[in-house]
Amino acid sequence: MTRPSSLITRAATVPCRVNLIGEWIDFNGGTVLPMALAPSATVQITANATGLDRITSTHFAISQNFDIDAPAQDHWSDYVRGALQYARGRHWIESGQDVSVESTIPVGAGLSSSAAIIVATLKAASLGLADLDGAALAFAAKDIENTFIGVPCGIMDQMAVALGTPGTVLALDTRDCSYTLLDLPQTWSVVVIHSGVRRALSDGRYRVRRDQCLEAAAALGVDYLCDASLLSIDALAEPLVNRARHATSEAARSRDAIAALRTGDRSRFGRLMNESHDSLRDDMEVSVPEIDQLVCDAVSLGADGARITGAGFGGCIVALVEPERMEDWWSALKLRHPSIERVV
Ligand code: GLA
Repeated sequence: MTRPSSLITRAATVPCRVNLIGEWIDFNGGTVLPMALAPSATVQITANATGLDRITSTHFAISQNFDIDAPAQDHWSDYVRGALQYARGRHWIESGQDVSVESTIPVGAGLSSSAAIIVATLKAASLGLADLDGAALAFAAKDIENTFIGVPCGIMDQMAVALGTPGTVLALDTRDCSYTLLDLPQTWSVVVIHSGVRRALSDGRYRVRRDQCLEAAAALGVDYLCDASLLSIDALAEPLVNRARHATSEAARSRDAIAALRTGDRSRFGRLMNESHDSLRDDMEVSVPEIDQLVCDAVSLGADGARITGAGFGGCIVALVEPERMEDWWSALKLRHPSIERVV
């Protein structure tokens, strides 16, 4: 292995993602449907031959010495640190790196800014040294998120940002990580809107919901909660019965949505998004009133469908809109919710 010499910069840019449907099922054996978006994270790594590591980001307003070997500090730079520790463990980098991190991805929005930063760091650090394909980068990034950051997330986000290109939908079977890339039909506009309510996965609510899903699967004697039969889940008590109802129904919706995408059936896809939102609100219990209202208004003003996206508890909604209606629809929604921002 020939290590790049000092002052040569290795750089990688990785997009964020929105999940169109298939929420909270990527660790329950479901198929998910994320799409990469244009906002991205760029990481540059330059060996500086000083033995000291520095991290700089105008986006995060930081420029300081950086101890790569320190434990996670509950700070965004943990994503970079975890990836750099991984890289150092594989001798892709030595001590003495200038690391620059720039991002146009809103943080706490449910658009996988953390997965994008981890994957971009791994990709930059491994350039020319290890031929990691998208899936290998994604598995490494998930491992870092699970063990170093301590968030027990599934594989969807990392696969979506490592493999996706903006405008292409990834139909990902999360059991074996087999996938198909599908084009979004020309007559579909996907709009992603930040509600203004921020949240963090590390705040513990993600782990609680995930543990409830695993507990429900164990109680029903299935490997994956998505495999539970509808009849069997009624034997569970609340809240496990609700989580099981969400996982099984969302898995079915996701399968239907892939068929609707393939046939270009926008209104059917939209209906499935609406049902997904209801299930996330009532059974998974990961929505918040501000977002319920935003989703309700998005649909009543003419979207084919809308739903909270990502882990929830705040962040973005995703809506499907007929392109010709788009501008009027957006103006009317913005009038009702002046603080919302359109991401794409
Ligand atoms: C977060 C996690 C994903 C997935 C979603 C919910 O984005 O990182 O693995 O579980 O929440 O669908």
